[in-house]
Amino acid sequence: MSHSIVVYFSRSGEQYGVGVVEEGNTAVVAKIISNILNVPLFELKPKNDCYPKTYKALTDMALREKKQNTRPELAADLSDFDDYDTVFIGAPNWWGDLPMICYTFLENHDFTHKTLIPFVTHEGSGFGGIDEKIKKTVKPKKMLMGFDILGSTAQKNQAQTQSAVEKWLKNIGF
Ligand SMILES: Cc1cc2nc3c(=O)[nH]c(=O)nc-3n(C[C@H](O)[C@H](O)[C@H](O)COP(=O)(O)O)c2cc1C
Repeated sequence: MSHSIVVYFSRSGEQYGVGVVEEGNTAVVAKIISNILNVPLFELKPKNDCYPKTYKALTDMALREKKQNTRPELAADLSDFDDYDTVFIGAPNWWGDLPMICYTFLENHDFTHKTLIPFVTHEGSGFGGIDEKIKKTVKPKKMLMGFDILGSTAQKNQAQTQSAVEKWLKNIGF
């Protein structure tokens, strides 16, 4: 039997096109996947909650991290990683890439026996090659077709998001 988990990174606070939100856009999608499949969720959180809650400050910090290719420390790692054979990994598109903290998680684990399924939220760039970067970084046994959606749609139209996620999951065999 397949064991799946949804791992995601997402920011509450001020986000592009949606104002100040209590739950980040990627978190909305992650929870929908987890609910549909009835599988656990694991949120990647930075140690000391180091990211700003205002959009401009967040984009500046994210750009600095990307330019310096940092690996920000996680508050906690997923301790039962070995129990899962399928890992959904979700993140916002930050400057055409994954947030650097997602690489901290990806590089800490061995995905060579796992199926990896990426999903992103964005404001127009889509995956922008992020799925290929993930594949190159972790070389999973298998990577299935990912899912992307505008963060503002995920945030403001959760019914539409729910049916788009259902359709995608069906397409990839769930
Ligand atoms: C630091 C930062 C960089 C971003 N860079 C891009 C980008 O290059 N392309 C894009 O389409 N959206 C970009 N966005 C928009 C986010 O991808 C979008 O708002 C996303 O849904 C945020 O997800 P979250 O609420 O789960 O954190 C950026 C947002 C932030 C905060």
